[in-house]
Amino acid sequence: MPGSRQGQSQGRSGPSAGSIAASALLPLRLFAGFTFLYAGIDKIALDPTFLDLTSRTSILAQLQGYAHASPLAPLITAVAIPNAWLMGVLIALAEIAVGLGVLSGIAFRAAAWGGAGLSLLFFLTASWSVHPYYYGQDLPYGLGFVTLAIAGHGDLYVLGPWLDRQFFPAPRGRHAPAPAPVSAERRHLLHAGVLGLSAIVLAVVARPLHDLLMPASATGLSGGSAGGTGGGTGSTVPAGGGSASSSSGPAASSAAGGSSPLAIATTAAVVQAGAYGFQVPTAIGNAAPGDPGVVVSLGSGKFAAFDAVCTHAGCTVGFDPQAVMLVCPCHGAEFDPRNNGQPVAGPTNVPLTALPISIQGGEITLRA
Ligand code: FES
Repeated sequence: MPGSRQGQSQGRSGPSAGSIAASALLPLRLFAGFTFLYAGIDKIALDPTFLDLTSRTSILAQLQGYAHASPLAPLITAVAIPNAWLMGVLIALAEIAVGLGVLSGIAFRAAAWGGAGLSLLFFLTASWSVHPYYYGQDLPYGLGFVTLAIAGHGDLYVLGPWLDRQFFPAPRGRHAPAPAPVSAERRHLLHAGVLGLSAIVLAVVARPLHDLLMPASATGLSGGSAGGTGGGTGSTVPAGGGSASSSSGPAASSAAGGSSPLAIATTAAVVQAGAYGFQVPTAIGNAAPGDPGVVVSLGSGKFAAFDAVCTHAGCTVGFDPQAVMLVCPCHGAEFDPRNNGQPVAGPTNVPLTALPISIQGGEITLRA
């Protein structure tokens, strides 16, 4: 509802409708609002691993990773980890509420400050060990939300006035008595209640709605989430097998076309690509069946295979052929495949899980 007079008459601060400032903030508002909305829905409804505490990409796995380096480690260990599922739900709901509030203008400032607070939380956990700091994604989100919270929405494209009219209708008729003034507290309470309720309803209907609208992909949403809760974007593990060069995520097995179910690649294919992605077929050490795996050519006929789940927060590492490093796209962890997957940079000090292999007749096979 652009430029509602009612909104202006209610003394909202911030840039006025149609002003350069209000228009200029619109792209930021749309991007930040949509991103948090999507991130929250993804966590609670679309990504089956986020709230599955047995998954290596779950909120629990992420929190355990953050507990290694975050300044909030004592709090994470004492409060968040024992209540990981609840924390995951609350974070997702908060992200949805922030997104809805920023996009609709309902409880706008509360939503924007909430977004800033969430971003700060993500910065102190998911992004804390990212160096240099500007590789982290959460500070820019946080500052964007602070900007929105300070500036306000300028009554540009907001639903608040419409909501007020539904709940506090003006008396009709020429001789109708003057309406009792609605206190700001009542209005804020209404807006906050509607926003919270909308977030819960959206979280509940998101998955059925998605399945209804996109039935073909309804069963294929195992998106190895993870990644920082930060910015809420949550990274997605790309599917598809074969070459794992550069930052592409490995996956899908049987690429080797080998004779054994534990065959993961041919030496020729790995040498040619530098690294090769597969899917871990069975439990091996800390590696779970279905985890993405990667086998790397180390030169001189040597190879090393790893569970490709980052030990920080569960994103899938990719291979950087220039640096000969396994690199995590989420927060920059780097693991040295020539040194048993030891971390050399980033927010984790836990090495990748090395997978024992044997090589015979040009075929690389896992040893379970
Ligand atoms: S998931 Fe954070 S560095 Fe890999």
